[in-house]
Amino acid sequence: MILHLEGTPNPKQEQFFLASARHVAYGGARGGGKSWAMRRKFVLLAFRYPGLRLLLLRRTLPELTENHLLPLQRELTPAVPYHATQRAFLFPNGSRLKLGYCDREADVFQYQGQEYDVIGLEEATHFSESQMQFLTTCNRSVRTDFKPRMYYTCNPGGVGHAWVKRLFIDRDYRNSERQEDYVFIPARVTDNPVLLRTNPQYLETLENLPDHLRKAYLDGDWDVLEGQFFQEFNRSLHVVHPTRLPMEWKRFRAMDWGYNDPCCVLWFAVAPEGKLYVYRELYLRKTLSSEIAKRVGELSSGERIAYTVASPDAWQQRGLKGAEGESIAEVFSHNGVPLIPADNARVPGWQRVREALAVSPDGTPELRIFETCRNLIRTLPVLTFDAHDCEDVSDNCEDHAPEALRYGLMSRPRPAPEQKQKRVYRYDPLSGAPTASPGFRGL
Ligand SMILES: Nc1ncnc2c1ncn2[C@@H]1O[C@H](COP(=O)(O)OP(=O)(O)O)[C@@H](O)[C@H]1O
Ligand SMILES: [Mg+2]
Repeated sequence: MILHLEGTPNPKQEQFFLASARHVAYGGARGGGKSWAMRRKFVLLAFRYPGLRLLLLRRTLPELTENHLLPLQRELTPAVPYHATQRAFLFPNGSRLKLGYCDREADVFQYQGQEYDVIGLEEATHFSESQMQFLTTCNRSVRTDFKPRMYYTCNPGGVGHAWVKRLFIDRDYRNSERQEDYVFIPARVTDNPVLLRTNPQYLETLENLPDHLRKAYLDGDWDVLEGQFFQEFNRSLHVVHPTRLPMEWKRFRAMDWGYNDPCCVLWFAVAPEGKLYVYRELYLRKTLSSEIAKRVGELSSGERIAYTVASPDAWQQRGLKGAEGESIAEVFSHNGVPLIPADNARVPGWQRVREALAVSPDGTPELRIFETCRNLIRTLPVLTFDAHDCEDVSDNCEDHAPEALRYGLMSRPRPAPEQKQKRVYRYDPLSGAPTASPGFRGL
């Protein structure tokens, strides 16, 4: 039989191969050789125990194909044929390795009534707790020579962050969960010499990530991706008493349009050295676009405002009061407030907010907010991480003022020294591959 199984396990992967607890998790950071270890473990188990039933899952089909199906086909065929309609590798000894995915929450029910001796959740934090619990009920065995097992690989962040952290990092067990059933084998990129040798830039990429992501993905820190999205927000640094700002400073506005949700308009001023002040906010619910435009004009009286950026929906929604078919942007324009569409790229936008809050080499942040902007100050620090994308903000937050802030900052070029010093990277959440972030597009 000819197989193409290359490589030898590193010490952490060896520990993973030897672990036989009911629940074994591996990894906890990027690049530690998790997918390789999971694939190889499954193949070894299939050969070792004839007639074994194995199920290997990823959250989505493209991830499954890329991460496991194609590599397994390269490693196993033709010795172990792949049956496409069953989506399974059929081993000559009767073992069967089925590959699956659970895109939607309810997709796990396709496994109802099925029994698997071994179930693997690749990138377990992409699975919800109820999906994991349901799959555990399918992890049964009638064999006498083998006790059912679940294997997990994981990184911090994602919809399943909390349950993976509770079971494998915090080791906080409830009801019938028994701590001796849960084993965690931590592995980081530095435990994977093959990757360090073949792709040395990968480590540099992880080192260059923004602080919170670097701690999570490089150091395997499971605390940083919980809770507050902008941990750099600090009232004593970012909130200031209102003062009269020189009239010659450049001023502009940013708006997140809303009617049922609040509409937020922020006023920005730019100091000559590039520091930014948010010096006024307007935060109104259920107010007609024409009314808001008038208020904006009145509040700005005597000021020279260079431009106003607004959320793209201002061009899609009708103006509620204005003539039939008029967009919000048109209503604003007719009321003396012409709008420009804001750059709505979310992840680079939040990254820009993070940079504006960060302390510069001179000891002060780029951005300061007048204490009269109460809604911005109230809502910015309580934004939380999105369950699926740890570079984005959760949908469940009151984010209208922070959105306006993001639009405003995206309309400004980054301060020059920052731009030179810092290389910003982001992750492709599906493949896990780090990618350079799209360049900044300022006005
Ligand atoms: N023991 C090993 N021998 C050979 N190559 C390995 C080994 N472990 C990992 N790799 C390779 O290192 C790279 C990263 O491993 P991977 O399992 O994808 O990491 P992770 O899933 O933790 O991000 C892949 O190209 C993988 O094939
Ligand atoms: Mg992987």
